[in-house]
Amino acid sequence: MSIKKDYLNEFINATEQAAIGAYPFIGKGDKIAADQGSVDKMRSRLNLIDMIGEVVIGEGEMDEAPMLYIGEKVGTNKGQKLDIALDPLEGTNFVANNLANSFSMLAVSEKGNLFSAPDTYMEKISIGKNLPKNLLDLDNSVKKNIKLLSEAKSKKTENITACILNRPRHEKIIKDLESLNVKIKFITDGDVSGAISVADPDSNIDIYLGIGGGPEGVLAAAALSCMGGQIQTRLVLNKNEEIRAKKLGIKELDKKYNIDDMVKGDVIFLCICHNQWRHS
Ligand code: FBP
Repeated sequence: MSIKKDYLNEFINATEQAAIGAYPFIGKGDKIAADQGSVDKMRSRLNLIDMIGEVVIGEGEMDEAPMLYIGEKVGTNKGQKLDIALDPLEGTNFVANNLANSFSMLAVSEKGNLFSAPDTYMEKISIGKNLPKNLLDLDNSVKKNIKLLSEAKSKKTENITACILNRPRHEKIIKDLESLNVKIKFITDGDVSGAISVADPDSNIDIYLGIGGGPEGVLAAAALSCMGGQIQTRLVLNKNEEIRAKKLGIKELDKKYNIDDMVKGDVIFLCICHNQWRHS
């Protein structure tokens, strides 16, 4: 069985509602309010859909997020059993500061087919399509991964472009990339679009790497499973987060997740970019 076709318009509409919810907050300097605006609208629309839905990637875990938390039931409790991964507003800083590249996102699968990651950090490495399966590995050095990629793409390392969040925690990776003469595209936020840019031939980005949000990693995996591409991830957990991960049923805390471990079967991925709404 796959996801019923009738659901598509309903989920498009829920994603649109999330985008509309952020609109009043563009350039108002309040990222929390912008996020809440999107969450409220998406949640109201999801709850009108005839489905037995469960949020598996959401705004946080039950005790830290009042709405659209991991485990929250959504829909009318009639219809198909579905798992929902969502980020009503990805790039809250972008909206608050009237900058480009914020998105509303939703992924849907049949029950049990999406990895429910806790709201913690996650290591990620992604590459585009038509490359040998599981080519790269988080346990390889940056040098080894870039070498493998440059050989597989028949591209000199100086012609490889890597995308990475501009964060102090990435200092070592950035130094390694610089020593290999790799071109670096820094992003300030929004690592779902960074991670999936590898599957966009117009982006010229060959590899995305670094540490970002766990939920964003699963959403990127859902997108790449639709677009073609690979991603490997691993949770980054402190002691308290290890307890939270275990509560979500994760037994092997240092497991490396390839795309097939995070997304199984049919998946719908929806993403609305808010760029045309920027106020100038
Ligand atoms: P929000 O939209 O929730 O603010 O997340 C933006 C984001 O840049 C994500 O895309 C990324 O995964 C995460 O924050 C990185 O976290 P940090 O800013 O703590 O490095």
